[in-house]
Amino acid sequence: MSQKNQTLGEFIIENQSSFKYTSGELSRLINSIRLAAKVVNHEVNKAGLVDIIGAAGDTNIQGEDQQKLDVYANNKFIQTMTNRNIVCGIASEEEDDFISINSQDENNQNKYIVLIDPLDGSSNIDVNVSVGTIFSIYRRVTPVGTPVTIEDFLQKGSQQVAAGYVVYGTSTMLVYTTGDGVNGFTLNPAIGTFYLSHPNMEFPEDGTIYSVNEGNYIHFPQGIKNYIKYCQMEEGDRPYTSRYIGSLVSDFHRNVIKGGIYMYPKSSKNPTGKLRLLYECNPMALLAEQANGKASDGFTRILDIEPTELHQRVPFLCGSKNMVEKAESFMRDA
Ligand code: AHG
Ligand code: MN
Ligand code: MN
Repeated sequence: MSQKNQTLGEFIIENQSSFKYTSGELSRLINSIRLAAKVVNHEVNKAGLVDIIGAAGDTNIQGEDQQKLDVYANNKFIQTMTNRNIVCGIASEEEDDFISINSQDENNQNKYIVLIDPLDGSSNIDVNVSVGTIFSIYRRVTPVGTPVTIEDFLQKGSQQVAAGYVVYGTSTMLVYTTGDGVNGFTLNPAIGTFYLSHPNMEFPEDGTIYSVNEGNYIHFPQGIKNYIKYCQMEEGDRPYTSRYIGSLVSDFHRNVIKGGIYMYPKSSKNPTGKLRLLYECNPMALLAEQANGKASDGFTRILDIEPTELHQRVPFLCGSKNMVEKAESFMRDA
């Protein structure tokens, strides 16, 4: 049960027993993500000082090499989970292959694997606009105490046990689900504590915001072109408002609060779409469904797609239920 001023740490402990596999392992994993998020947040906040303290590729005053923030975030999340011996495998947007963590050690009983997009919307960093981190968690399907294999990572999104994101915005928030609704926690940077600020987040069934990179319009499938024209038509609560940040996390975060749809369709430039199924679309799709929203590739539920490769891309429509269904109907009819 949520209470006033509840911290993320308290929330994790309190809700541990309601999770169906209650070994405490998942709680420890979410805790390590919470820790890495705070460290990355600290670094993201300093990004504007880059001309003063040195750009990526430079050496800083302590003789350390400055890293690009997506590399930094990648290393921090991997390090935190590896050092604390909390998962048996990690896959990341920033790594060509998955990483096996002591999973050949018979004493390693860790059951979980994590897939991450360490920094989402990273081109926003240079211009002081919101970015995020996305994570997706599964139980391994191969036996514990053996090395993880690609099979552990190529699971359908519906098999996820937890997923979430961190948004480094005007406030930093951690939003996640373990399959029992979606809760959002806001960081108090003065004391480094996340507080439950958005309990039971839910997409409004309908919305008036559409988020898409309209510069690619000419390359979109006819169904998406028709839906965009529908959004712009004068009728009822239309024309809708267009808002596109260029960070899926930030666009999703606004849409879940206000009601809206995010679209990254396939195009002649990106014939299979741009966003990655395993560490962008699946976790956001689980969050969407847990928040009364919907996620699809235009025809198929994202969480039902059978993955074939680690860095696979898919078209992505996600947001308020009625808006996604409307966009799907335009895809079908085109
Ligand atoms: P990343 O920074 O992890 O590569 O992801 C960026 C993604 C997504 O978050 C965003 O909505 C989209 O790419 C932006 O792409 P365009 O610039 O092509 O619109
Ligand atoms: Mn991304
Ligand atoms: Mn990224």
